[in-house]
Amino acid sequence: MPIVTSTEMFKKAYEGGYAIGAFNVNNMEIIQGITEAAAETKSPLILQVSAGARKYAKHVYLMKLIEAAESDTGLPICIHLDHGETFEVCKACVDGGFTSVMIDGSKHSFEDNIKLTRQVVEYAHAHGVVVEGELGRLSGVEDDINVAAEDSSYTNPEEVEEFVRSTSVDSLAIAIGTSHGAYKFKPGQKPQLRFDILEEISRRLPGFPIVLHGASSVVPEYVQMINDNGGNMPDAIGVPEDMLRKAASMAVCKINIDSDLRLAMTGTIRRYLSENPSHFDPRQYLSPARQNIKELVRHKLIHVLGCVDKI
Ligand code: G3H
Ligand code: 13P
Ligand code: ZN
Repeated sequence: MPIVTSTEMFKKAYEGGYAIGAFNVNNMEIIQGITEAAAETKSPLILQVSAGARKYAKHVYLMKLIEAAESDTGLPICIHLDHGETFEVCKACVDGGFTSVMIDGSKHSFEDNIKLTRQVVEYAHAHGVVVEGELGRLSGVEDDINVAAEDSSYTNPEEVEEFVRSTSVDSLAIAIGTSHGAYKFKPGQKPQLRFDILEEISRRLPGFPIVLHGASSVVPEYVQMINDNGGNMPDAIGVPEDMLRKAASMAVCKINIDSDLRLAMTGTIRRYLSENPSHFDPRQYLSPARQNIKELVRHKLIHVLGCVDKI
């Protein structure tokens, strides 16, 4: 199976009422854990790379690691740029072999977002690459940019048809109450998503794939593992799994998960080092971290996204 775009994945996901997992990757162990889980469950997969991940690991390393995972597992994998902010970074990823890019113009005015998104679409489509745009603004932290809750905004359904028509994007990320990072809802606050907005958007864009960012559940077991082993995370609350399943059964075809991977990796490493204080070989603590990433992803694929056996 080759490195592919998400076009076919989204078409089948939309029709089948499930979603594709889009997992953020930064290094070899994360890529191996995710792809082993997807291969064993025969799940289509999107691996996504943020600007920060490109800076940390270098584009070429991540590209080669993902190509290695593809040839090792035989999985169809879409390689996606997560939250591209400029035409230049999107172009670099198109030129560098990614099959999908996100241009996140959500911080701009509606008109400027359209202009920037259209510019990226023209270049990407001419090179066989698909594009995700964003309308509405999530709160939370991404690449050290902190969007305060008061600066976030739900997607306005009245804008979606014009945005999609004017830009020719292939999928659209929307804001319905999720946010990036581990602190999505205030302690004591009941997690809620605006499914009415999602419904209205899908009514206006029939058959069109919608993307949900900020979709980690913030698995309590891993937060606990961090805090039991020298960490000090305040109450962290994520998106309940039943809400993600509901979104996946609707028009949401791509669900973005990063924070849960970070928590699983960090929790596992902290626990390993507390239990084995004299060990210093990175392979010893990275092996269980990779294994727990695999278990976490397997759980998401089977119980949250519903995409197993869909290759
Ligand atoms: O949406 C943000 C992702 O979690 C990526 O985070 O920009 O810190 O790599 P990052
Ligand atoms: P989380 O922080 O909820 O994992 O969201 C990740 C994301 O949206 C990446 O684009
Ligand atoms: Zn995101």
